[in-house]
Amino acid sequence: NTYKPCDFVIYGALGDLSKRKLLISLYRLEKHNLIEADTRIIGVDRLAETSQGFIDIAYKSLQSFLNNEIDDKIWAQFSQRLSYLKIDLTQAAEYQQLHSVLEPESRVMVNYLAVAPFLFKSICQGLHSSGVINSETRLVMEKPIGHDLKSSKEINDVVTEVFKEEQVYRIDHYLGKETVLNLLALRFANSIFTTNWNHNTIDHIQITVGEDIGIEGRWEYFDKTGQLRDMLQNHLLQILTFVAMEPPADLSAESIHSEKIKVLKALRPITARNVEEKTVRGQYTSGYVNGKEVPGYLEEVGANVSSTTETFVAIRVDIDNWRWAGVPFYMRTGKRTPNKRTEIVVNFKQLPHNIFKDSFRNLPANKLVIHLQPNEGVEVMMLNKVPGIDGNIKLQNTKLDLSFSETFKNNRIFGGYEKLILEALRGNPTLFLSREEIEQAWIWVDSILSAWANNHTAPKPYPAGSWGPLASVALLARDGRGWEE
Ligand code: BG6
Repeated sequence: NTYKPCDFVIYGALGDLSKRKLLISLYRLEKHNLIEADTRIIGVDRLAETSQGFIDIAYKSLQSFLNNEIDDKIWAQFSQRLSYLKIDLTQAAEYQQLHSVLEPESRVMVNYLAVAPFLFKSICQGLHSSGVINSETRLVMEKPIGHDLKSSKEINDVVTEVFKEEQVYRIDHYLGKETVLNLLALRFANSIFTTNWNHNTIDHIQITVGEDIGIEGRWEYFDKTGQLRDMLQNHLLQILTFVAMEPPADLSAESIHSEKIKVLKALRPITARNVEEKTVRGQYTSGYVNGKEVPGYLEEVGANVSSTTETFVAIRVDIDNWRWAGVPFYMRTGKRTPNKRTEIVVNFKQLPHNIFKDSFRNLPANKLVIHLQPNEGVEVMMLNKVPGIDGNIKLQNTKLDLSFSETFKNNRIFGGYEKLILEALRGNPTLFLSREEIEQAWIWVDSILSAWANNHTAPKPYPAGSWGPLASVALLARDGRGWEE
């Protein structure tokens, strides 16, 4: 698990993502002794700041996001790695400064773009002209990679002028989450699931990603983006590909990427003709979350009161292939839901005949619930006989519960960013996205976006602290189903 000493360069080092996620994840890796001794972390941003200033900013971030996790000894070790360079990212000449700091001949450079995508081009060009890139240099790109297929292609074209595809690590932090990876194990290492994972036994699948937080000071970014682009185009579709893909030949990046692409290609297009029936757009109004009154989307700081951006989406997805014919996937994701909850629910089919009518007029079907957040775990709902000596057999729906924190008491569960940053340092691209995957996802999402635009589909209001507009319930009710409570 060792890797060559790296220079981990964060572009946008003073920004939100760097402070909230990257520096914290790096610190946690340090704490678990996963950062190689000679690795350096170089913050780059356009503001005038000293290395000491950057170290102080990093410390403050740790204080606010990690509370009491800071250990003086580890911090001392970690802070020694940090330095700062002021570079105006739009000015190619300024990248020369990197040359004086880095030693591209002997060290691996991992460039992390934690900036808005309009800067990707100038960063790639600046790196190229400064001559610091070699065949081991890596580029980690954060989403959003474009806001539609066209802009995504433009970004990828620019990047691949300078970097080879295998040097580009497109990150989706959901692929670093333990339970998403556990889908590979559940599906391809357990015969009860491998043989039952298809339209013969599964009725439908639900994917829910709800967040109790609102816009958190990101109104301007979010308003141009919306929930479909911000969450569904990437995180939810990635979960879906892991649930739906065929068994890969092995665990290599190529094998996994190619199976995921097949799923994305099989997504039935949603067009202006069926968009109203298959999708729900919502926007939160004021309400109560965790007992606290919160403003509506249009009342948030910096809001444009006539915005029609969606903060909630629910979609019925059909996958046109042999495995999933007739098995809908229902996905929903929203801001200001009653709590933070990310889960996958696989609903199995009802049995064709019921001999336990005394207990249940309709036997409840088995259910596999995979929890991603807040607590990782897997549950299987199944019927068991209630112990007793009654003449009749009485059944009860029971839960077989595998909580990760209980079962793997001695294993720490790493966060998505920690896992993926480490993979980037190690040079393992398996859990990153290929260009083709992202573009294929955009093709499907673009069609929904243009259908909404074409039909002038306005978002339906839902109170903060609820699971979206009633239309989301109706989306499943029309098919005789309901969301997992
Ligand atoms: C980000 C989105 O990609 O994921 C945010 O831009 C969202 O809007 C976040 O809040 C959710 O991530 P997690 O890991 O907290 O579910």
